[in-house]
Amino acid sequence: MTENLEAPPMKRSANDFIFGKVLGEGSFSTVFLAKDVHTSKEFAIKVCQKRHIIREKKQDYVKREKETLLVLSKNVKESAPYFVRLYCTFQDPESLYFVLTYAKKGDLLGYLNKVGSFEDHCSKFYGAEIVQALEHLHCLGIVHRDLKPENILLSESMHIVITDFGSAKILNCVEMDEKNKENSEEDAGELKRKSSFVGTAQYVSPEILNRTRTTPSCDLWALGCIIYQMVAGLPPFRGHSDYAIFQKIMKLEYEYPDGFPDDARDIVTQLLVLEPSERLGAKDIGSYTSVKSHPFFSGLDFEELHKVKPPEIC
Ligand code: ADE
Repeated sequence: MTENLEAPPMKRSANDFIFGKVLGEGSFSTVFLAKDVHTSKEFAIKVCQKRHIIREKKQDYVKREKETLLVLSKNVKESAPYFVRLYCTFQDPESLYFVLTYAKKGDLLGYLNKVGSFEDHCSKFYGAEIVQALEHLHCLGIVHRDLKPENILLSESMHIVITDFGSAKILNCVEMDEKNKENSEEDAGELKRKSSFVGTAQYVSPEILNRTRTTPSCDLWALGCIIYQMVAGLPPFRGHSDYAIFQKIMKLEYEYPDGFPDDARDIVTQLLVLEPSERLGAKDIGSYTSVKSHPFFSGLDFEELHKVKPPEIC
């Protein structure tokens, strides 16, 4: 008999994997390292307990994460392969399972905590990979909204792998055209539901805090915070409480330490701008040309980054 090439792939179940160590834990999910019993390939499997999702009212979060990962996994760009891929999903009566790329080398926060600050060429390289990733993400109409060093994982070859799309938003065509309008009713409802919308206070943009409509520019703000942190060793907005940090963000209250290089200072200053449409790159269309051509990134070929050996973090 001939093989039916049209047959859909077999639905997977937890029995197809051997579950190993815990890679990460959230309020309603745990990420496990897991090995496919058929191929021995390693994956990171996010297990979301249904009763915890319901208890924490995170149904929207899980839905968003799946939708965004499906769009991203269907639109892999060769020169921007910087996102976890969703290989399959399945469920049992207790849990939902997301089978994801396993990023072997941990997260950027771990490296920042280990080495303090990065040497300039490292900040430049990883900053550039984030720009290349954001360009692809925003071209697909996806805004991450919770970009931070913890969500920037590293592959075995030390290239970035962006994860955690639970706060992401897929913009519709109208939203992609109309920037910085007041919140729609839908957005307002969403913000009300998500009183805990802000994951980590340090990277949240002023427009998310004052509930102005989401645009891709909030990820450019986070990029500014992350470049600052790679160069200085600490995020720009710090405080004893989330509230204290929010106050500083809203007042754009931050300082550069002595020795912060001029090019880095200039790009961060142009990204950390209160008005979202005035940030470097916010007016670019299709490609982040103005960000990529900034002197901070001089000498880098953005299209080739994924092929080169990343500089050693030290
Ligand atoms: N921690 C959370 N998600 C992960 C992933 N996809 N790979 C490695 N560690 C993780």
